[in-house]
Amino acid sequence: MTTLKAVRGTRDLLPPETALWNRIETVARSVFARYNFGEIRTPVFEDTALFARGVGEETDIVSKEMYTWEDRARAQSEKPQSLTLRPENTAGVVRAYIEHNLGQTGELQKLYYIGPQFRRERPQKGRYRQFSQIGAEVIGPASAGSESPLRDAEVLEMLATLLDELGITGWTLHINSVGSAADRVRYNETLREALVPLAPKMCVDCQRRAVTNPLRVLDCKVPEDQPIIDTLPRIADSLDEASLAHFAAVTAALDAAGVPYTRNHRLVRGLDYYTRTTFEFTHGGLGAQNALLGGGRYDGLSEAIGGPKAPGIGFAMGEDRLVLTLQALEAAAPPRADAYVAPLGESLNPAALALARELRRAGLTVELGEGGFRLKKSFDAADKTARRIVILGEDELQSGILTVKDFATSTQTKVPRAELAAFLAAPAEGKGHK
Ligand code: HAM
Repeated sequence: MTTLKAVRGTRDLLPPETALWNRIETVARSVFARYNFGEIRTPVFEDTALFARGVGEETDIVSKEMYTWEDRARAQSEKPQSLTLRPENTAGVVRAYIEHNLGQTGELQKLYYIGPQFRRERPQKGRYRQFSQIGAEVIGPASAGSESPLRDAEVLEMLATLLDELGITGWTLHINSVGSAADRVRYNETLREALVPLAPKMCVDCQRRAVTNPLRVLDCKVPEDQPIIDTLPRIADSLDEASLAHFAAVTAALDAAGVPYTRNHRLVRGLDYYTRTTFEFTHGGLGAQNALLGGGRYDGLSEAIGGPKAPGIGFAMGEDRLVLTLQALEAAAPPRADAYVAPLGESLNPAALALARELRRAGLTVELGEGGFRLKKSFDAADKTARRIVILGEDELQSGILTVKDFATSTQTKVPRAELAAFLAAPAEGKGHK
């Protein structure tokens, strides 16, 4: 008998890796809670029409990648229903928003989700047929401010905070505006015309896209096509006044909040529901599948699937890709404790335990040393496990001023006990990260 294996593109997640998955989900839930998001759990399969109408019949996801089947009819008179494993969660969230009349409250709905999605893509590193997304959506009536550029900027600022708290350093935020639905139609036509003389020099996929869906030419990764794509008209030149003003307000708010970004004129995204702001966060460590997450505004999605006007904005992070990125970062720089508390002499052990308790209760990761060690041994042990050593001798105990040495910078600082937790919570410099 042949041995059975997990289906191509699916994987088992085993310990210790599952601990990392749990850590990511815990950090995400805590950040979402601070921004006042609540959790939504929608079904893993939906009526196929939801994705056809919501994500768009012409997209790669709907036309090529969905797991769709005809469900058995309950009675002979009934037509079998076409069902699909969800390839993404935004359409399902908006369906639930409509079905439960969530717009009736008059407030913005701020919903997040964590769960499996399914796409029949060619598997490779960072790309699977079953993968997990952590996403969030802000949606509501226009009277609740759902169209405001401040919502876009707040979502992006939240993502920057979330990635920082996960310890993912070195990300790049790419943003663009795809304008209104009318802007997009206009731009598609501009591109179509511009591509007539150029397409024959491009890859076969682009030759096809130039006719069927010119916008998708901008997604092409073939190196020889890049110089040609760089000469194409930009969507920014097809935007109406209102979309231009909206985008300017988003970037102004990001500037004010100090969130770094780069304008990427080619970022048009592969789902049809986007309007105005689109964005992706990429990470260099991921290779070809470098998008950690993607998202944007979808002001017409609710109406496209039969609901009321309910503008929204959201994103989904590829959890599998967050895990890959963190594994690579942590292999290069293993996580260290925030501090190693070193008592100078056994008589100071009880006071050191009290200090470690104080710091741990403030949320810090702390190693507690041993007063019986010689100072050199304490320093060696601390350097292996923590970013800083806090020395607790008789003088420090009496004066309440502690000596802290940072291993990355080799600097020594005197810190009053009341300020110690805040001092130690400051981000790592150089060596290791939290
Ligand atoms: P998406 O760009 O199709 O957007 O997917 C978002 C993220 O999911 C990607 O950036 C990637 O990290 C991850 N992802 C996608 N496909 C795979 C795969 N086959 N294997 C592993 N990871 C994958 C959406 O799904 C939209 N619903 C996002 C959104 C929410 N827009 C507005 N609200």
